[in-house]
Amino acid sequence: MCGIVGIIGVEPVAPRLVDALRRLEYRGYDSAGVATLEDDRISRRRAEGKLGNLAQKLAFEPLAGNIGIGHTRWATHGAPTEGNAHPHATERVAVVHNGIIENFRELLADLAKDGYLPKTQTDTESVALWVTRELDRGSDPEFAVSSTLKHLRGAFALALMFKGHDRLLIAARKGAPLAIGYGTAEMYLGSDAMALAPFTSRLAYLEDGDWAVITPEGVTIRDGQDGIVQRELMISNASALMVDKGNHRHFMAKEIYEQPETISHTLSHYVDMGAETVALREALPFDFADLRRLTISACGTAYLAGSVAKYWFERYARLPVDVDVASEFRYREPPLESGGLALFISQSGETADTLAALRYCAGQGQHVASLINVPESTIARESQVAFPTLCGPEIGVASTKALTAQLTALASLVVAAARARNTIDEAQERELVRALVELPRAVSAALGAEAQIERIAKRLSKAKDVLYLGRGAMFPIAMEGALKLKEISYIHAEGYAAGELKHGPIALVDETMPVIVVAPSDPLLEKTLSNMQEVAARGGKIILITDEEGAAKVGAGVAETIVLPTVPSFVAPILATIPVQLLAYHTAVFMGTDVDQPRNLAKSVTVE
Ligand code: F6R
Repeated sequence: MCGIVGIIGVEPVAPRLVDALRRLEYRGYDSAGVATLEDDRISRRRAEGKLGNLAQKLAFEPLAGNIGIGHTRWATHGAPTEGNAHPHATERVAVVHNGIIENFRELLADLAKDGYLPKTQTDTESVALWVTRELDRGSDPEFAVSSTLKHLRGAFALALMFKGHDRLLIAARKGAPLAIGYGTAEMYLGSDAMALAPFTSRLAYLEDGDWAVITPEGVTIRDGQDGIVQRELMISNASALMVDKGNHRHFMAKEIYEQPETISHTLSHYVDMGAETVALREALPFDFADLRRLTISACGTAYLAGSVAKYWFERYARLPVDVDVASEFRYREPPLESGGLALFISQSGETADTLAALRYCAGQGQHVASLINVPESTIARESQVAFPTLCGPEIGVASTKALTAQLTALASLVVAAARARNTIDEAQERELVRALVELPRAVSAALGAEAQIERIAKRLSKAKDVLYLGRGAMFPIAMEGALKLKEISYIHAEGYAAGELKHGPIALVDETMPVIVVAPSDPLLEKTLSNMQEVAARGGKIILITDEEGAAKVGAGVAETIVLPTVPSFVAPILATIPVQLLAYHTAVFMGTDVDQPRNLAKSVTVE
């Protein structure tokens, strides 16, 4: 997490550093800072809280200087105070850092012997102090950084600026993303292409272990062994436009409402609408027909997308699937039969645990595929095949349109796999593709329930705990409902398999407990209706999300029924996502929380 940026410019850089940080704020937003060289002095402005606080500070105390670095923070070591905000600096060097220096205590202990003492609680300051000691011993900046890097353990991206060197930035990457931007007479660096989009589209991504010496004349990139390497210069298509909220109050609302379009857009990549077939454009390094097992790893909402896909792959393609949260998978080190397929799902493509799981699988002889929203991301680049979701940048920290785009792409892959494995015939393929093609219209209709959902959310905002229940592919959607509610409204919520209710959680049910049941009409509906009776008998307030057919079967004891259009059960989990998103959104609005940037979270989790 954390976003970093640097500019060697031909005019004062502070305003543009802040502008770039605004596009990186999704990575962290608990404090921010910039440093420039003013009259050969390292000058800093830092502020606690959102970037707006830093911008305000700069308005009162502007920073001159044509070279600078900036940072927006998601705290790992040390509270999010102004003192712990980056850049961290000594008289000689300023540093911004994304990631974790795992051995910072050892480094600080060694530095203390020579009288180099920290002023903050951060791990980053150990880097600033170590480089300073090297400079004090007579090294030039390049040597000081290269020798410092050899002492650092952990995953990080760093940018450094030096007193006495007003045309030099040094950057390093080990595990966290970093791009160098090429301008005319100017050079840039940033955590991603979006940060640099208004300045340049010509980028080179550093690879793991690389470090780069950047001057207006050009860049020298070296690898971990200090050998000079070339990294491909590419043209990024990240939009220069700062995505705006349109008529919506929050990015999350806008992104929920974009879903008919983003699902269509994603679908148009995967299906031939005329022929009603799935037509994959990516060359596959494996054949679905030969696979014996699919291993899916991801985090958070992306993991829940994978969990829905498990039901689909097993049912339609008869392909056994293991799905796991990446943070567990990577350390479990499961044995994997060589030649299997490992699939990694990630909106950002930078999630540290998912990337580590990918590298583990690559080392175990698996075919490595990913499903990614940011095509230039590390996970996409390290995959043999990267399937895209085409939902555009997702700004709200709580994932919405990325999930439905992931589910749409996964459903398409399921159809491709099922055809290749001969578990469905042409007619069944057409039927499943038609269900997908008709989905955007059903999603538009589902958004029509907003007024009712807003009314329910008003009552939900008074709850202390909420239970979400679902069966089959609706179980992950129940978990997604609970996750979304927790992260943006801060109300405690749990998602359970409806059949598990009586094995424990039913003890929580009383007349104060809202129980949200996600149960469209399918062969499992009758079972879930019985579970609802168990809740009703104990006074629980049931909010049922179902479809027209399901609503007709519901008896007494339901406080509210949200009715979705009836769609084929294949795509029903995608449709059921809409009301759980709207419920969480409106509950959070009633609670008055910061919907787009909820506390303690960040959009891209590049630390373990
Ligand atoms: C929840 C949410 C997170 C992400 C998770 C994975 O609303 O957004 O749970 O889904 O951090 O992120 P990506 O998909 O970028 O790997």
